[in-house]
Amino acid sequence: MKKQIGILTSGGDCPGLNAAIRGLVRAGQEHFSMRCVGFRDGFRGLVQDRTLELTPDVLSGTLTNGGTILGTSRDKPHRMPIGGKVRDMTDAVVETYQRHHLDALVCLGGGGTQKNALRLKQAGLNVVTLPKTIDNDVAFTDVTFGFDTALNIVTEAIDRLHSTAMSHQRVIVVEVMGHRAGWLALGAGIAGGADVILIPEIPYDVEIVAQAIRRRTRAGKTFSIVAVAEGANSQSQAEAIAKLVAAKDQAKNKAERKEISAQLDAFHEKHVNHTVELTSRLEELTGLESRLTILGHLQRGGAPSAADRILATRLGTGCAELLSRDTHGVMVAARSQGVEPVPLETVAGQKNLVCPEHPWVQAARHVGTCLGDRL
Ligand code: F6P
Repeated sequence: MKKQIGILTSGGDCPGLNAAIRGLVRAGQEHFSMRCVGFRDGFRGLVQDRTLELTPDVLSGTLTNGGTILGTSRDKPHRMPIGGKVRDMTDAVVETYQRHHLDALVCLGGGGTQKNALRLKQAGLNVVTLPKTIDNDVAFTDVTFGFDTALNIVTEAIDRLHSTAMSHQRVIVVEVMGHRAGWLALGAGIAGGADVILIPEIPYDVEIVAQAIRRRTRAGKTFSIVAVAEGANSQSQAEAIAKLVAAKDQAKNKAERKEISAQLDAFHEKHVNHTVELTSRLEELTGLESRLTILGHLQRGGAPSAADRILATRLGTGCAELLSRDTHGVMVAARSQGVEPVPLETVAGQKNLVCPEHPWVQAARHVGTCLGDRL
């Protein structure tokens, strides 16, 4: 009997999703007697039973394409906006799973997807996940696919910003994605030779950043590149967040917790403009004309790098192999040159953040990069 496998992609898209789907389906069909059906637009397609039969024709030519042939969304099965109301659609997910006689459901996603997958496991489904995201913030895997491609895009952007910053003797602040993690800004900042790198894990002092830029000016370098992670915070902002998080942990009841969560959300919403404010503050403090470049969704678009194609193919094919041995309830993690199943209970709710003592941080400091906390 052929095994029936459902596949969906969830959360923000990233390069390598199609390579992973292709790896899983090809290995599944050719080596492990599987039949694969895709669900469109993440968990929403599963709830609404909208499918795409993953035949060899459909997969042909997808290895090198960005995005996802299945479409994606940020919908969660247990909190899905339907007809103007937020509803728990877990039962509908279970019904679709049973209607298709699935032996397992594979969810390709980031941190949020690991949590959603665990909930579905608890609802009785056989679920397996693959770690994708340009943010590289999924815990218990060496790396996520999508990260390497984004790293290359951001590095190239920083390379290009150098010549224009130098010609105009400007400070160019470049805002880099990464959600609450600094991997992308740190990696591309090192690779592109940014003079300052600001990441969420190391709160910064704008005066120290300005001092670093002024020091460069005194040394005859009349331009500077500042790579800032979208989640980076000044020291005072970080203290305000830490206070709110501590208050939330100690909240006496649900209402108090909800109120503090709303304050935290408001803080993060306001934070969207922080690089605009940082840029004008640096202009004031250094006397150098300053410009901001927000790379935005450019960082997630286009063809996957060779490294991401290989990683996604490894994870996809490794997943098919694990499914053939009836391994479920796990994330297929990248471990050294191979793959490793990690229980969803271990992964869900955990984040891979940059440790301030990480060798990348040390390397950046050793080449004289300012991390915003000290000169
Ligand atoms: O998780 C990937 C990511 O690109 C983050 O870096 C970023 O914060 C977020 O998604 C943007 O989400 P959206 O595409 O929904 O605006």
